[in-house]
Amino acid sequence: QEDLFKNVVSHAKEYGFIFQSSEIYDGLSAVYDYAQNGVELKKNIREYWWKSMVQMHENIVGIDAAIFMHPTTWKASGHVDAFNDPLIDNKDSKKRYRADVLIEDYAEKLNQKAQKEIEKARTRFGEAFNEQEFITTNARVMEYLGKKKEILERMARSLETENLADVKALIEELEIADPETGSRNWTEVRQFNLMFGTKLGASADTAMDLYLRPETAQGIFVNFLNVQKTGRMKIPFGIAQTGKAFRNEIVARQFIFRMREFEQMEMQFFVRPGEEMKYYEYWKATRLNWHLSLGLGKENYRFHDHEKLAHYANAAADIEFNFPFGFKELEGIHSRTDFDLKAHEQFSGKKMQYFDTELNQNYTPYVVETSVGLDRMFLAVFSNSLKEETLEDGSTRTVLQLPSVLAPTKAAVLPLVKKDGLPEIARQIIEDLKWDFNVAYDEKDAVGRRYRRQDALGTPFCITVDHQTLEDQTVTIRHRDSMQQDRVKIEELRSIINNEVSM
Ligand code: GAP
Repeated sequence: QEDLFKNVVSHAKEYGFIFQSSEIYDGLSAVYDYAQNGVELKKNIREYWWKSMVQMHENIVGIDAAIFMHPTTWKASGHVDAFNDPLIDNKDSKKRYRADVLIEDYAEKLNQKAQKEIEKARTRFGEAFNEQEFITTNARVMEYLGKKKEILERMARSLETENLADVKALIEELEIADPETGSRNWTEVRQFNLMFGTKLGASADTAMDLYLRPETAQGIFVNFLNVQKTGRMKIPFGIAQTGKAFRNEIVARQFIFRMREFEQMEMQFFVRPGEEMKYYEYWKATRLNWHLSLGLGKENYRFHDHEKLAHYANAAADIEFNFPFGFKELEGIHSRTDFDLKAHEQFSGKKMQYFDTELNQNYTPYVVETSVGLDRMFLAVFSNSLKEETLEDGSTRTVLQLPSVLAPTKAAVLPLVKKDGLPEIARQIIEDLKWDFNVAYDEKDAVGRRYRRQDALGTPFCITVDHQTLEDQTVTIRHRDSMQQDRVKIEELRSIINNEVSM
């Protein structure tokens, strides 16, 4: 698993998908740049989401609100007061940790110990091994897993009641239980706000303190009535948006899983009060189906229903994905009640109500939100698609089996040799296809190596122009996953590609 993750990171760099930001200056932690292929994959994921949410839903429209918003927005939303992570400094190492992550790490260690016991037993008992039965009968495994559960429950309780002294006590207790981690020299646990601040205006006296938005959702809430009125929207309806969000994350690790500058794809669905649970269930199911439509494997998704709810929610669930480092949150579906609209009404003094002509009644709508990280989607798709295959002749190939609809380049056109007029025909094919698809030209190296390179880039088709093309206007088309090659007429190419890559 760890190796897989390392491969993902190095493949992303080697093949021009993701670079560390400002790499020549040794990089900026938890900030990444999307490279020439990464930007295409990311754009295709965004479009796939937009099409299914906006284009396919008559009652959902999109907006693109500014990243800068009036500072009172974040007072109203609760981010100024409550968007915090508990932090703890280690006096010895001078390192700063997020307290909850530190505790989760301890719990994960116990989990790993349990997994080791399970693996040992699996090797010993072979075929006859029944994992579930072993877990429930083995005292040591039960002890590890029991302790893990207890630690996490205690942490959840103390975080919920914002009892930071308890969090600190728990860390100290775990330090004593686990001598490997060494130093016990912790300072107090403090709350640390995750928003980035900046200033608007040049003069020192009049400049206004602003925040970079930590979620795109608030741009939708403050525009709710503008969109509803100008779009003559009738409840239930949704507003969708994709865009950058910023959080000063303390734990910067796991590559693009947790970044300081990232992109969200969010949709707020406005409903009648009392109907929110119906739509909450609807959107949970609909969003899971969207993920499944990409074909990354049903077993790689699961719901995590929240017991501990944010101040604005009356129900919340995550769709978790099986990343190379285990199941983690990919998307959140939240029933946010009328919290946000009411708060903006209170802070702005402007009415945020909707007149329901069917009920002949004014009310503040309830909101069900779906929120997925675009970068996390990228990581899910990319890591799941990266495969090392052993071929029949014993050689290996690296292939990025991206869903074709998301692949950065749909087809590469390759002249078999750099002479005899073959490059000219290849260029002509590109001229013809580029109106509809991203296509690439490659004439460097032997054709086998060019195939391998396109496999590693995730290109679903390679089209090869050879001497027979000169005679009968046919080319070979090679399929990335099966490596099967078919001989087809040049004029058929567009529809063959289109059949597989259209959204
Ligand atoms: N408007 C609701 C909201 O922002 P969230 O659970 O804080 O909810 C939603 O974020 C999604 O945004 C997450 O499920 C995740 O995919 C993505 N996300 C959040 N923080 C992120 C970060 N630091 N880096 C990358 N993606 C992040």
